[in-house]
Amino acid sequence: MSGHDDYTHTGSVDMTDNSTRIDQEAIDQLTALVGKYPQKRSALLPMLHYVQAIDGRVSPRGIEVCAEILDITPAQVAGVATFYTMYKRRPAGKHHIGVCTTALCAVMGGDALLETVERKLGITTEQTTEDGMFSLEKVECNAACDFAPVMMVNWEFMDNMTPEKAEQLLDDLAEGREVHSTRGPQITSWADSEKVLAGINDGKADEGPSAGTPSLEGVRLAAEKGWTGTPDAESQKGGDS
Ligand code: FES
Repeated sequence: MSGHDDYTHTGSVDMTDNSTRIDQEAIDQLTALVGKYPQKRSALLPMLHYVQAIDGRVSPRGIEVCAEILDITPAQVAGVATFYTMYKRRPAGKHHIGVCTTALCAVMGGDALLETVERKLGITTEQTTEDGMFSLEKVECNAACDFAPVMMVNWEFMDNMTPEKAEQLLDDLAEGREVHSTRGPQITSWADSEKVLAGINDGKADEGPSAGTPSLEGVRLAAEKGWTGTPDAESQKGGDS
């Protein structure tokens, strides 16, 4: 795998690329999202996720359509889209890979993991492989430190990763083999995940556990030792006297 395009999640939207797949069906879907919120402007973030699901990025046409539906200016839409790193200015890959290199993951091998992924894909962070199959992002703590180091594939967790497991995972995805998050759900595509972030139910919310064993270890230990939570105000008063 080699060659790349920068997808970048910083700077301005690429207004030179007017390609789009937004058709009437997509416009109807975007309009339907507005109905879920008491104030229509509140639908903008999910609408931008849906634009990404269709166009692979926040496209000029997507900005225009969102502005028209919400009755705000394209500049206001672009201002929101360029504030958040989850919105991409150029096309991300079919699979969007995130590697956590924040403190705990870094200590547990996150940096080595990122180096492995970069070498394997022939790209660095904020880039997409030339074949459009993968894009790569260095992500901040995913609140999954008890499974460090973690990778994300289309925002699904891959826990307790190693460079070897990462290489196998990328091979499986590239070959189109069935891949599941270490927490259960099947990994399909970044576009599908973006639809979920737009609020469209894919029916997979109950696939996999809601909390893994390491996350529940404190609860187990507290039960075993008979520890309880913060004492109530009365007993605390007694303890202070
Ligand atoms: S440091 Fe990586 S999940 Fe927290």
